[in-house]
Amino acid sequence: MDIEALNKIAVAMVEPGTGILAADESHGTIGKRFTSINVENNETNRRDWREMLFRTQPAMQDHISGVILYDETIRQSAADGTPFVKLMQDAGAIPGIKVDMGITPLAGRPGETITQGLDGLRERLAEYYELGARFAKWRAVIEISHPDQYVRSTPTRGGMKANNHALGRYAALCQEAGIVPIVEPEVLMGGHHSVERCHEVTEKVLNSLFTELYEQGVKLEGTILKPNMVVAGKKCAEQPSREEIAERTIKVLKDTVPSAVPGIAFLSGGQENEEATRNLDMMNKVGGFPWKLTYSFGRALQQSALFAWKGKAENYDAAQTAFNHRARMNGLASKGEWSAEIDDTVDA
Ligand code: 13P
Repeated sequence: MDIEALNKIAVAMVEPGTGILAADESHGTIGKRFTSINVENNETNRRDWREMLFRTQPAMQDHISGVILYDETIRQSAADGTPFVKLMQDAGAIPGIKVDMGITPLAGRPGETITQGLDGLRERLAEYYELGARFAKWRAVIEISHPDQYVRSTPTRGGMKANNHALGRYAALCQEAGIVPIVEPEVLMGGHHSVERCHEVTEKVLNSLFTELYEQGVKLEGTILKPNMVVAGKKCAEQPSREEIAERTIKVLKDTVPSAVPGIAFLSGGQENEEATRNLDMMNKVGGFPWKLTYSFGRALQQSALFAWKGKAENYDAAQTAFNHRARMNGLASKGEWSAEIDDTVDA
């Protein structure tokens, strides 16, 4: 393993002003996004949608350091035959790949899931490296049970440990293959839980994650963390202010994430576009931490462009304008330079 090479990639992924575009939706997930705009979920539409994103300038050049692709996408080409990987490299963005195989119920732990995909991963990583991938993503899903549920409340220590062990095994295999692992233990934002409960669970999850990474020999200098922000569940009546979200998220990260980690790239997790940008911005305005804090957003980067596009060629420019805008806003947030006034100013 060449840790210096891995570190160089990881540092580039979180360069201030830039962040990661998560375009690695599985066929099922992209299908849900397409249903919301009445577009059929077929290979051509998936290609057209993603080609539109990958050709957006200056967003790709200036604000997207890397793109997480899906197995189909990393092998796909644009309508004119240019491989997507080449499109990306020409735009200065690093190609990445989602390598987990989704979640399944965790036996013995009702209400919890485990992420699959370790079998054959060494071989798949070698192929993805050949295809151009220089970083990968593996997502573990942690769900907080309803506050009234005392019996069998989740997550359990065993559930967290199983998921973090898998993240450690995955990350070690990535580094062996010359690929930077993004480790993503996502505490879901749906549900009725309070911000205090999210704080407590996120702290436990991250604490256990870094123990597992250590035990599996993962080099933190060549690793990127992709966590949730510390927020209240969407159905909780009491919602925290942006200051509280920033303060709690920074506190949890400082308490659990070693300073050898070059960067932390948040998932958006269903927050509104501007909300995700605003929260990231607030954290960078507070500052005073050893890692770069940026975005690895799926929905919060794509949503407005998706609604502008609606699957129609004549909306191509409007969709690119929307994507350019969100990319620029998040780029500003990664430096703590965003404001609602700038966000509300419509781009030319
Ligand atoms: P969202 O930003 O839409 O949560 O997606 C990011 C991601 O890659 C989740 O795994």
